[in-house]
Amino acid sequence: MKDAPLDQRPHWDALAHLDPDAAVIDPRDRRGDKNAYLAAIRNETIAQSLAARGVRTALDLGCGTGSLGRTLLGLGARVVGLDIARGLLARVAERGLGDAYLPVLYDGWRFPIRDASLDAVTTYVVMTHIVEDRQLIQVLGECARVLAPGGVLIAIEQVRRKVRDQPSAFKRFRTLASYEQLFAEAGLRPRRAEILRYGHTPWIYLIRFGWIPKRLHGRLARLERWWGSRIGVPPWDYCDVLFEAAKP
Ligand SMILES: C[S@@+](CC[C@H](N)C(=O)[O-])C[C@H]1O[C@@H](n2cnc3c(N)ncnc32)[C@H](O)[C@@H]1O
Repeated sequence: MKDAPLDQRPHWDALAHLDPDAAVIDPRDRRGDKNAYLAAIRNETIAQSLAARGVRTALDLGCGTGSLGRTLLGLGARVVGLDIARGLLARVAERGLGDAYLPVLYDGWRFPIRDASLDAVTTYVVMTHIVEDRQLIQVLGECARVLAPGGVLIAIEQVRRKVRDQPSAFKRFRTLASYEQLFAEAGLRPRRAEILRYGHTPWIYLIRFGWIPKRLHGRLARLERWWGSRIGVPPWDYCDVLFEAAKP
């Protein structure tokens, strides 16, 4: 258990030579259209959630190659990017994010960050990869520790109707309710959960093969979000869900 977070280091480091978005989103997406679609949804959603708050300091937990970095810096924040994978962090420099973005390697347990020092923690498909609930509570406890009172955790995670493990991908799909319970156990107050998109729609394959023009991607993303608000979590697929939780 003690080393569980580091078991998947080799998995991520083996992907580190790929295109920096393919390494952390979908390595099979050779054209990059699907990864650009997903990254745009992530960036816009997180920017919208944080825009009104005036974020000066942020942590991007599980930052990988720093794919979210430019969005956070665009909000005027100084950013720490934490990850367990040295190979992915080595690629952050290629993004030219400058001195306001600090990539840091950590052991998966304790953040090397002062108590109550941050306005926001963001994280994109990282908790899904923290398969042990006990370890996730520890990591969420660290988020609560480093957030200032009133600070916010913004997470986008893959959710299913029932908890399901996918050991080959180092994944645990949790339910909406189990995430909200874990936030509360770690001392964070759940505030929002909203479906952004579904995992295996026909159009994600069309996007991947370049059959849907990029100018339509934004409209499709808005449609997916609207659809998510009507349909909920279906029995047959996972959903990307935006969570917000606040430090009291
Ligand atoms: C699907 S990738 C997402 C990367 C990044 N969040 C992004 O938006 O591109 C998952 C990331 O989680 C990281 N990770 C896995 N376990 C972790 C842990 N316990 N703490 C922090 N990061 C972790 C991996 O190294 C990898 O960078």
